[in-house]
Amino acid sequence: MGRLDGKVAVITGAASGIGRGTAIRFAGEGAAVVIADLNVEGGEAAVRDCKENGGRAVFQKTDVSAEADVKAAVARAVKEFGRLDIMYNNAGLGGAVGPIDETTVENWDKSLAILLRSVFLGMKFAIPEMRKLGGGSIISTASVAGLRGGAGPHAYSAAKAAVINLTRSVALEVGKDRIRVNCICPGGVNTPLINTHVPGGEPVAEQFLALIQPIPRAGHPQDIAAMALFLASDDSEWVTGTAMVVDGGLTAGGAVFGQDSGPAPVIPGNFAGPSFEK
Ligand SMILES: NC(=O)c1ccc[n+]([C@@H]2O[C@H](COP(=O)([O-])OP(=O)(O)OC[C@H]3O[C@@H](n4cnc5c(N)ncnc54)[C@H](O)[C@@H]3O)[C@@H](O)[C@H]2O)c1
Repeated sequence: MGRLDGKVAVITGAASGIGRGTAIRFAGEGAAVVIADLNVEGGEAAVRDCKENGGRAVFQKTDVSAEADVKAAVARAVKEFGRLDIMYNNAGLGGAVGPIDETTVENWDKSLAILLRSVFLGMKFAIPEMRKLGGGSIISTASVAGLRGGAGPHAYSAAKAAVINLTRSVALEVGKDRIRVNCICPGGVNTPLINTHVPGGEPVAEQFLALIQPIPRAGHPQDIAAMALFLASDDSEWVTGTAMVVDGGLTAGGAVFGQDSGPAPVIPGNFAGPSFEK
């Protein structure tokens, strides 16, 4: 028996990285999954992965910053699988990079639309469907960048902090409906969001990310998927309004470097890409 048997999930940003890893895990635990992403090729590959892992899945092309698209992703879950139990607002990107005084209003707004408006929209359209079922679980991917400065570009950090407090705020409102609202704050996870911006790519990022927290290995999508599974399942029935940190200890007390790792690695300025131009 799977931990999500009979449940239906929408996962945004599930064509790649954390979202894709979570979709595969959810499918293996018995959930039917709507893969909602802009990336058609990756999204269709994720559907195949979910099916290979024993679950049902469909792809829905979605721009998470667009109200009509997020509404359509939720509607697809209901049309295809009859209900919506789990909404995982996960899609994201680095957004605007560079000094604050050089950041354009256009790139600031675009960043906030993809990283924050998206989460609002996911909540807005999922909650009415969950009320019909007498409950549900909303999960969002925030970041350690929402807990401290210096872990991401300015707009990214601001948006992720806002995701954490939106989580708390909405949890207060919908607790009475047995809808739980939580977010996850990952540390350094080796996905394209980071490794496409590290010279040398994935293997170099694997080494670099092993050096930045007490547990000396990079984070992987499966680490975040495991927390998402807990938050999606009935095991977390009494958990709401939380920001679950999954970071190998990164935020326990600043960067920790192994004795043999030498000086702190230089973090490229745009490490949290794909990003906009300044
Ligand atoms: N990788 C990390 O170290 C890390 C750390 C903390 C938080 N996060 C967060 O985790 C989430 C997932 O990132 P990831 O690391 O898996 O990166 P990723 O690049 O592997 O995946 C991000 C996915 O989001 C999709 N996406 C981007 N913009 C979109 C849009 N407008 N509409 C729909 N889909 C869109 C992309 O197509 C991609 O499939 C993001 O919210 C990110 O900010 C990542």
